[in-house]
Amino acid sequence: MTKDMRHVGVLGFGTMGAGIVQLVAQSGREVTVLETDQARIDAGFAFMRQFLDGGVARGKVTEAGRDEILDHVRGVTDVSALATAEIVIEAVTERREIKRELLSLVAEAAGPDALIVTNTSALSVTDLATAVTRPERFAGLHFFNPAPLMKVIEVVRALRTDEAVIEQLVGFVSALGKDPVVVKDRPGFLVNRLLIPYLNDVVQAYDDELASAGDIDTAIRLGLGHKQGPLELIDMIGLDVHEHATTRAYEATLDPAFAPPPLLRHMVAAGLLGNKSGGGFRTEGH
Ligand SMILES: NC(=O)c1ccc[n+]([C@@H]2O[C@H](COP(=O)([O-])OP(=O)(O)OC[C@H]3O[C@@H](n4cnc5c(N)ncnc54)[C@H](O)[C@@H]3O)[C@@H](O)[C@H]2O)c1
Repeated sequence: MTKDMRHVGVLGFGTMGAGIVQLVAQSGREVTVLETDQARIDAGFAFMRQFLDGGVARGKVTEAGRDEILDHVRGVTDVSALATAEIVIEAVTERREIKRELLSLVAEAAGPDALIVTNTSALSVTDLATAVTRPERFAGLHFFNPAPLMKVIEVVRALRTDEAVIEQLVGFVSALGKDPVVVKDRPGFLVNRLLIPYLNDVVQAYDDELASAGDIDTAIRLGLGHKQGPLELIDMIGLDVHEHATTRAYEATLDPAFAPPPLLRHMVAAGLLGNKSGGGFRTEGH
């Protein structure tokens, strides 16, 4: 039964939690999602329903299919409901102490064979593993946003993760219809390790007035065949989110490639956060 992972626990029903819950539920598995209170459970369901309604409008899923997916999901506020979960995916707020406290409670509540994984982007998986009773059964599963649509999932091998656990996770990711990429536990894992220094270089090039913001995006879209220009991408990610990610990576490595460029810090300080604030590199206000 453990191999099939028929009962999946998800911790946190926010942006990532809702996407992960949907992805797992639409594979026909039962999902128990833990939140801090009923209002957040309701908000998670509302977010999921809205996303699925978009799929209904585009003819990707029927109304009956949407309802069936939602029927696979149960929202809870008590960790004891995770006792029969074969895998628990942690997707709560990106704060080390919050994650560690919850993970140690979950490790006690879950069965001895359960796998526990974290979706952290910027914390060390090896460090979080020391909060659970069986670090050899702990790893990272790094989903991309929105989880139901993005095709790749990084399977992060922490220092003490069992090789058999990595194999189980690769099988699980494949069963969800996604492509697994196994990576080492280092800041940024693989995708963000490559993306963050690149985005920092782009911001510096713009600050150095190599070209206008629009021309930088056009050059990368047309010259490299990317779907989106890098400055449009930072606006979409949020300048504050990128600044946080690059600062954490810099603190962990002291690698100058991760040092936040001065313009990025100034724009965040000025409240120019990208699309969500109406002001960024390519959005009005700058
Ligand atoms: N947003 C992204 O693009 C993205 C991408 C990949 C990974 N991540 C990672 O996913 C995780 C979640 O990020 P998010 O963007 O979904 O955050 P979010 O703020 O949207 O959601 C976090 C949720 O966790 C809940 N929570 C906090 N403490 C809890 C507890 N003790 N028990 C149960 N629920 C609790 C909060 O109520 C909230 O609903 C973070 O570790 C983040 O680094 C985010």
